[in-house]
Amino acid sequence: MPAATAGAVESPESRLIFALDFPSLSAARAGAEKVRGAVGVLKVGLELFVKEGPAAFALAREADAALFADLKLHDIPETVERAVGSLAPVGARFVTVHAAGGAAMLARAVERAAKETNGKLMILAVTVLTSLDDEDMQAQGVSGRSRDHALRLARVAWSAGVRGFVCSPAEVAALRAELGPEATLVTPGVRPAGTAAHDQKRVATPEEAIAEGADYVVLGRPIRDAKDPAAAARAAAKEIAAGLARRAPGAVASPATRG
Ligand code: C5P
Repeated sequence: MPAATAGAVESPESRLIFALDFPSLSAARAGAEKVRGAVGVLKVGLELFVKEGPAAFALAREADAALFADLKLHDIPETVERAVGSLAPVGARFVTVHAAGGAAMLARAVERAAKETNGKLMILAVTVLTSLDDEDMQAQGVSGRSRDHALRLARVAWSAGVRGFVCSPAEVAALRAELGPEATLVTPGVRPAGTAAHDQKRVATPEEAIAEGADYVVLGRPIRDAKDPAAAARAAAKEIAAGLARRAPGAVASPATRG
């Protein structure tokens, strides 16, 4: 059982990940403050990290939230392993790597995280980006549907020791069925009932994503751009609670979701 999240998910709020997609540290800090206590995890992605560097990681601790370093690492195994080593002292709970980087890269990322963080840092494999569709896959020489490719990549990652995955709500049920209760599934591409879809092509509500087996949902713009971000986060947490209630009776929760 991955220790990274065991026992950590105890409330609907703790399953809610807020994407700190802001152009500066000060804007991100203000955004994080607005949702203090209403979200369990803050995600630092490329926009903020490229601008502000590791200082952005400190925002999670300041706001009493867990840190998700969404770095989407994809390089030769040596480089990715060493990047995970550099991240280890920061105290993040999650870091993303691209499953397409291959088995050796994934295995070395997992081993380094386990060794240096005592299992506290979970490697999340990004399968197929939700911005790619079947046509994009074909242009890259991948036949069949993007969902099947996501499953193939997830199997490779699983065999390499990865136990956390980022997938679209459209794939979450298939991944849960394939990987079973031990997997930790994180879904972006989520929109609370009645809000705009923006550029996310296939969206589901937090309730649907959780009911289908997601452990965590990622929300960016629907919280960031809301008039009252804390209220938007609280509404999303309510939907998460409704999704948990809808899960099939007797369904086995993943270790990350036993709270
Ligand atoms: O604003 P929105 O809720 O669409 O933000 C979603 C967040 O999740 C962004 O930070 C984006 O980078 C991230 N993400 C995504 N799709 C993926 C992986 C990550 O939307 N496949």
